[in-house]
Amino acid sequence: MNILVTGGAGFIGGNFVQYMVDKYPQYDIYNLDLLTYAGDLTKHREIEQKVNYHFVKADIADREVINSLFEKEKFDYVVHFAAESHVDRSITNPGIFVQTNILGTQVLLEASKKIGVSKFVHVSTDEVYGELDFDPTTFFTEDTPIQPNSPYSASKASSDLLVRAYHETYGLPVNITRCSNNYGPYHFPEKLIPLTISRVLNKQKVPVYGDGKNIRDWLHVLDHCTAIDLVLHEGANGDVYNIGGHNERTNLEVVKTIISTLGKSEELIEFVADRLGHDKRYAIDPTKLEQLGWKPTYTFETGIAQTIQWYLDNKAWWEQIICGDYENYFEEQYSV
Ligand code: NAD
Ligand code: DAU
Repeated sequence: MNILVTGGAGFIGGNFVQYMVDKYPQYDIYNLDLLTYAGDLTKHREIEQKVNYHFVKADIADREVINSLFEKEKFDYVVHFAAESHVDRSITNPGIFVQTNILGTQVLLEASKKIGVSKFVHVSTDEVYGELDFDPTTFFTEDTPIQPNSPYSASKASSDLLVRAYHETYGLPVNITRCSNNYGPYHFPEKLIPLTISRVLNKQKVPVYGDGKNIRDWLHVLDHCTAIDLVLHEGANGDVYNIGGHNERTNLEVVKTIISTLGKSEELIEFVADRLGHDKRYAIDPTKLEQLGWKPTYTFETGIAQTIQWYLDNKAWWEQIICGDYENYFEEQYSV
């Protein structure tokens, strides 16, 4: 069984590749990644020698390269994570989001159709549904209309629609997953949780957008991996599955939890200008996936404690990132 994982040098794809290589020694796992600013192979030192792990450096939007790779390896399954993933970057530079997230997905779908893959799992996001208000009884279900608000979420929604069209028009066997905010090991330090941990540890101010009352629904990355594994093997052909663990927190609550766990002062918090078009609240109803047999193993409390400890134990990993090219981006974004 040959499985192609795109974006396997990134945060979630990287955790998924490690999970799959260990869990399924009988599968050949191909990690295809362009190694953009968000891709990093040092995370795979412990699996790179394993016989069932393979790495291919390629751009998912490069039709010729992708077609010849699919012809050669005859993948059985595709699990598609590769994307530009950061909302703030999509606000300042939307073009690359269209190129990678929309065109790149279409290139993969076409190659998958040509060789007849048995399953194409498209890893999407709850952000395609837009935003909820602060009424705690409302949730995103699989039937919630798609109403993306940022260039990032619009590009992901567009790719979801292409996946759906390849299923309806050509009969490609697909699933679409829509997960809430992930956190955990190897989360790139431009995103709220790893940014807060790294800045607190470096005694730097933590930028909180607006009033900090926006709500996200947090899920540990390993719970996302088990959900995708289940959908890959047991998802009903053509279906969408929402993924979330009922862990809603305001951004301010998240930042304060991290600061107090690290024993530092809340004076590090700095309220800064709000994100343009900042979605108020995301909250997932995961009932459909639970009915398939999935349940998360981490609460937010156990997951955030494990994650903070991981960042304490792996300072070299995130320091090499914030000291690289990323530093310029970071300084441009926040002159705090
Ligand atoms: P990430 O930014 O950490 O990783 C993205 C990976 O894709 C990187 O390794 C990068 O090098 C690679 N990549 C980018 N452009 C590429 C291209 N043209 N060709 C090949 N590889 C390319 O992202 P992430 O946070 O791990 O998110 C992975 C997927 O999960 C994305 O599709 C995202 O939309 C989705 N998702 C993320 C979250 C979250 O909270 N992070 C939640 C739900 C869904
Ligand atoms: O919901 C799933 C999505 O979660 C994924 O599809 C995206 O790929 C992923 O990046 C994430 O998007 P968010 O925009 O929710 O994540 P981010 O970590 O960028 O921001 C989380 C919240 O924190 C959001 O309300 C904005 C706020 N924020 C973020 C940063 C980086 C701050 O207040 N300060 C910050 O410095």
